[in-house]
Amino acid sequence: MMWTIAWSVTLALPLDAESHVTDLHLPLDRSAGRLAAQIAAGFRSAVRTGRLTAGTRLPSSRDLARDLDVSRGVVVAAYEQLTAEGFLIARRGDGTRIAPLARPDEASPAAVQNGVPGPSRELRPEPAPPAPAYDLWPGKPDLSAFPRERWISAARAALRTLPHDALTYPDPGGVAALRAELAGYLGRVRAAHADPGRVVIMNGVAQGLSALLRMLRASGHTLLAVEDPTSDRQLPMLDASGLRVIRVPVDAEGLDVAALARTGARAVLVTPAHQYPTGVVLSPSRRAELIAWARDVDGLILEDDYDAEFRYDREPVGCLQGIDPERVVLLGSVSKSLAPALRLGWAVASPAVAKRLRDHRGTTDLGAPVLEQYALAELIRSGGYDRHLRTMRRRYRARRDALAGALNSRMPGAVVRGVSAGIHLYVELPRGCDEDAVVARAARSGVSVAGARPMWSPGRAGHAKPALVLGYAGLSEPRLVKAAQLLGQAVTDGTEG
Ligand SMILES: Cc1ncc(COP(=O)(O)O)c(C=O)c1O
Repeated sequence: MMWTIAWSVTLALPLDAESHVTDLHLPLDRSAGRLAAQIAAGFRSAVRTGRLTAGTRLPSSRDLARDLDVSRGVVVAAYEQLTAEGFLIARRGDGTRIAPLARPDEASPAAVQNGVPGPSRELRPEPAPPAPAYDLWPGKPDLSAFPRERWISAARAALRTLPHDALTYPDPGGVAALRAELAGYLGRVRAAHADPGRVVIMNGVAQGLSALLRMLRASGHTLLAVEDPTSDRQLPMLDASGLRVIRVPVDAEGLDVAALARTGARAVLVTPAHQYPTGVVLSPSRRAELIAWARDVDGLILEDDYDAEFRYDREPVGCLQGIDPERVVLLGSVSKSLAPALRLGWAVASPAVAKRLRDHRGTTDLGAPVLEQYALAELIRSGGYDRHLRTMRRRYRARRDALAGALNSRMPGAVVRGVSAGIHLYVELPRGCDEDAVVARAARSGVSVAGARPMWSPGRAGHAKPALVLGYAGLSEPRLVKAAQLLGQAVTDGTEG
């Protein structure tokens, strides 16, 4: 029988006046015997959970024995054991105290209650800086729309059916079930030439890209051509590859392939579906020229399938990889379709490149987390991924309309680009605007936006029109309209001043 003795004697003659007097509950199971060990365990647990803090004086062995209705020898044995372990200090004339070195376990809930830092019983997000009232920072989907229930169902279905052996180290190139689902999905939706053997699971486009750059360098490449402008978030990663990054202009049709041919590079990184950040969709003639260039120079195209899920004016154009699967590596992820936090993406490559990517994972990190891979495979298999994307396409389209419409009326003279796809707009500001000043004024009125200048090469930034990159995925239509009004004001204040 379990007896729980609520010990409510005043335990503490605290050394420190701020210490709390503690009520301790020592559960004793008399039928289990070894009472001294049970008492010692109760004290250890009280220290670990922070209910007893360093310096707290314990009752004498005689008093505690009386309260617990055990013999004094039992308490003495427990105190001696804990003293030997360093939990307690016994000094003549000062009684027995919790030792200064005895620390609460930082993960314990009571430790948190007692003001000791550490996560509580519930998962808490890391403290975030205060959010702007209108967050139009580009690159994020609507995180509030993450299909939590569908994800939970997919994860539950996967866990229920997975054999124990599936929980060992995975195929570093990705679990077969996910590679097969992705091959089917990318073939159907992106017209990719994808069979499971060509698909390698990566932790987002970012990891796929850095692995490919490393591979290029190892095969003797020294140059990498990249669009101008491009994602400033990616630039440090490109620079870290050891390849010399050469910027190639983007115009109204996308990457200038004639300019690319003049660089001498044999590898290029492009975003054909929705150029980041200008939002240009690579024109049919440029697509053909780009493939011809790759064949001509025996080169490699790294196709970042950015925003490909969201095309509003027509059916999405198939990816370049489907045209020449030996010369194009398709990179994609669920960062915009589900959430960047999943860090799940893929590369679809020629068998030789796919093998090198798989080997790369095998020698660097042993592969992606397995349960998430199975959950995504199940989400795609069940049709939940398609359904989610259909819902989001409708939602984003309405948001795009609201923002583009409001900018037209609130920001006369601005040119809104990139409306046909994606989850951001590229807004060229009216003549004479100071981009940095507009960004700063917008921030002061609670609107967070990115200026385009850091995305241009230093050589072209001076000639590029001042512009803003506005991510609209996360705000409702009325809030987007309000944000456009504040942005319009930020522009007007600058031109009037
Ligand atoms: C153009 C572009 N592509 C890809 C990525 C990375 O995406 P992922 O989350 O799939 O690694 C970024 C991230 O900033 C980006 O700006």
